Amino acid sequence: MATRSWAEPYKIKAVELIKLTTPEQRKEAIREAGYNTFLLRSEDVYIDLLTDSGVGAMSDRQWAGMMTGDEAYAGSRNFYRMQETIETYYSYKYTVPTHQGRGAEHILSKMLISDGDYVPGNMYFTTTRLHQELAGGTFVDVIVDEAHDPVSDHPFKGNVDFAKLNALVEKVGADHIPYICVATCVNMAGGQPISLANLHELRSWCDQHKVLLVHDMTRVAENAYFIQQREEQYKEKSIREIVFEICSITDIATMSSKKDAMVNIGGFLAMNDPALYEQACALVVVYEGLHTYGGMAGRDMEALAIGITESVDDDHIRARVGQVEYLGEQLQRAGIPIVTPIGGHAVFLDARRLLPHIPQDRFPAQALAAALYLESGVRSMERGVVSAGRDKTTGENHMPELELVRLTIPRRVYTQAHMDVTAESVIQVAERAEEIQGLRFTYEPEVLRFFQARFEPV
Ligand code: F0G
Repeated sequence: MATRSWAEPYKIKAVELIKLTTPEQRKEAIREAGYNTFLLRSEDVYIDLLTDSGVGAMSDRQWAGMMTGDEAYAGSRNFYRMQETIETYYSYKYTVPTHQGRGAEHILSKMLISDGDYVPGNMYFTTTRLHQELAGGTFVDVIVDEAHDPVSDHPFKGNVDFAKLNALVEKVGADHIPYICVATCVNMAGGQPISLANLHELRSWCDQHKVLLVHDMTRVAENAYFIQQREEQYKEKSIREIVFEICSITDIATMSSKKDAMVNIGGFLAMNDPALYEQACALVVVYEGLHTYGGMAGRDMEALAIGITESVDDDHIRARVGQVEYLGEQLQRAGIPIVTPIGGHAVFLDARRLLPHIPQDRFPAQALAAALYLESGVRSMERGVVSAGRDKTTGENHMPELELVRLTIPRRVYTQAHMDVTAESVIQVAERAEEIQGLRFTYEPEVLRFFQARFEPV
């Protein structure tokens, strides 16, 4: 049978108008934003590829579900529906809602990390690592080396390297490792998946060392898609089955529902152990809200429950990742250096190779994101030295191997024509790459500096 190309498994019912700006307007806007795309006004953006977080388009069913919101302070019907959906699709028995992913990370870190502990993970994520550090822990990267190499074609760059994990146990002892945190479809590595073979091996390792296995499941459905495509024994399994298997071999999950589950706000901490659940309930009332809403409105919990069911649909995920690959392949054909394999939620431009004349301490990826905005009004995000921040003990900049600009595709929002315009603008910026100057800080916040930092051209 001939294979057909994918098309979106939906049609458009409502549209939001966007407008083009002039080069003069963009010049002024980016200068006012201190050359940081986080500080631009959304009105001044044409195609917004800053993030895939909270920017997806909800379905008509999700919008209809919003009307059934039960806004009771305690015991909202929508909470129970959400908890049941999480158990059905993700296997976890107990759910504590939070306002978004970092709310869950905060509670989890406070529950499990003591001063002097170490928390291994398959590459850091900005908010995840910060909450571990604020709780007294030290993050240790145990991802395979290939993840730090933008041109490696390893099919599972999100995998854990057991030699690194064993070396950590030897150095600090398993007693000082409360849990390992593994992300599915590792964001900072370029949206790269972990294999189920690696996860099963990790499960045994955790049992052997009595270390809990925590799952950052923010992009689990996208990871499941890559498993279906690349791991032989799963090619006949549905996305729903693979997602369930991934979740069921882990102990606890943190979720930013703003990504895979296609809601504008929300998150949760989920687990199977009733004693841990009790601890989480005691903390959520302090920082988020009562354990049956945790910072979410009833209507948002309903939309989330529906979003989960839509996110594991095979046609949905094929079109979703297909669109990301469509953009990535256009850039590859034009010889633009990007992270390969193409990730699940974004295409990552390699600023090191695009702007070899800018040293890393002059923030090449930050400068590239600003230049792309200037060119066409496409908004992207730095994922390099600015995002990596400073070492908590030495105060020196972390100097990551990956100095990237992320073109992040919101779910169900843009068309192929938007991807074409994006590719054209990147190609035009690349043609005049040598004109792009480095940047220096004019304001550097102490934590999570990438959000609010300001710069000027050097
Ligand atoms: N974990 C991962 C892997 C993430 O990508 C994010 C957010 C979080 C946790 C935190 O969740 O934002 O709901 O508090 N990532 C967004 C992004 C911000 O643009 O990549 P949150």
